[in-house]
Amino acid sequence: SLQKIKQKGTLVVGMSADYPPYEFTTKENGKTKYVGFEVSLAKQFAKDLGVRLVIKNMDFDSLLVALETGKIDAIISGMNVTNERKKSVDFSNTYYSGDSYFLINKGDKDKLVNAKSFNGKT
Ligand code: ARG
Repeated sequence: SLQKIKQKGTLVVGMSADYPPYEFTTKENGKTKYVGFEVSLAKQFAKDLGVRLVIKNMDFDSLLVALETGKIDAIISGMNVTNERKKSVDFSNTYYSGDSYFLINKGDKDKLVNAKSFNGKT
């Protein structure tokens, strides 16, 4: 519960950090860093609650069991609502529909065909 999280002073978030741009890892001087917009979201939640954030990185398929058994306080991992999942967990409101796009000028559409085309330009 929220009260328990505040009492222990940590918010333990489970995610499978293999899902850019939601959550993924980068290396900074040999140290693994969690990045992505849901990592930012988790950091903000912890900040708002006034607690420390602990990220537990695990297989996507382990997340629900980890939540049910209390190993983590919440899942933030690009998990869509399904009726099956709703049987065991409580979903928040939707904050991202996935229906967003990256836009370029029409005239560039034959030049900019994949991530590689942007090399040196971003
Ligand atoms: N959106 C899909 C689902 O809910 C896949 C999510 C995968 N997430 C991840 N962090 N690997 O099943």
